[in-house]
Amino acid sequence: MSAPPLSPASDILLRLEGVALGYGDFAVLHDFSMQVRRGQVVAIMGGSGSGKTTVLRAATGQIRPHSGTILAFGQDLTRLDAGSLLALRQRMGVLFQQGALFTDLDVYENVAFPLREHLRLSEAEIRTRVLDKLDAVGLRAAAHLRVSEVSGGMARRVALARAIVLSPELIFYDEPFAGLDPISMGVTARLIRSLSDTLGCASVVITHDVPETFAIADEIYLVGQGTLKAHGTPDALGASTDPYVRQFLEGAPDGPVAFDYPVTPAFEAWLARGEGASR
Ligand SMILES: Nc1ncnc2c1ncn2[C@@H]1O[C@H](COP(=O)(O)OP(=O)(O)O)[C@@H](O)[C@H]1O
Ligand SMILES: [Mg+2]
Repeated sequence: MSAPPLSPASDILLRLEGVALGYGDFAVLHDFSMQVRRGQVVAIMGGSGSGKTTVLRAATGQIRPHSGTILAFGQDLTRLDAGSLLALRQRMGVLFQQGALFTDLDVYENVAFPLREHLRLSEAEIRTRVLDKLDAVGLRAAAHLRVSEVSGGMARRVALARAIVLSPELIFYDEPFAGLDPISMGVTARLIRSLSDTLGCASVVITHDVPETFAIADEIYLVGQGTLKAHGTPDALGASTDPYVRQFLEGAPDGPVAFDYPVTPAFEAWLARGEGASR
């Protein structure tokens, strides 16, 4: 008997609804909503410090929203016990910002690491899976190399293979293009798109790199000034006349994008205590 067709709702792998996020009394984002469907590449864009990584932490259940709802695979993250949250997280892959590889392990063992950590597989099964994922990022023949022997662009692809080795349904890439040369950036972007298409998963790309993201994303969420500033397809955003969107896309130094770090109660308390007086 064949499986029933997926209802549109079950295709939504991640949904944030009217979410407020922050750390203690420091508010990072308010009234933020987004959703990601199976097969999509969705980008969260915004300047440094705008709250992109914070969204990732909330979507993976590392921090709780101050208000609003976060559903991953249809389940409300805030209502899950630790065990269920862990099981849910196993369906997610994360390429961390500055995703460090283990320098004392070779490329093969770096990618094998999550498999050894989370699953009980035979060496033959591990070998098949690791070589398969390395093949997907074009580095099958680099399996034996030490991390110190691969270039920055290759290292990023190894980290990518490691992020997908558990066959996640939802993958987060935090600044996947940071520090790469222009060609490696293009290669990495194309890989993220093709992995999403061939693995049939959903990808959330967190970045401030405009051309790479516009080339591969189905939808873009632009965050800034503590909230969602714009949302749409690359074409729609590219055609936007909103001053904030234009400044972000064109990288102009002057405009509505905030330069000053916002004053918080914690800063005012620090100032009042005179702790900065001697500096
Ligand atoms: N663990 C934390 N505790 C307190 N403040 C934090 C923490 N992590 C990030 N922040 C603050 O939250 C804001 C958003 O950070 P982040 O989500 O990392 O931004 P982005 O990833 O867009 O550069 C920044 O002002 C940052 O200083
Ligand atoms: Mg970040």
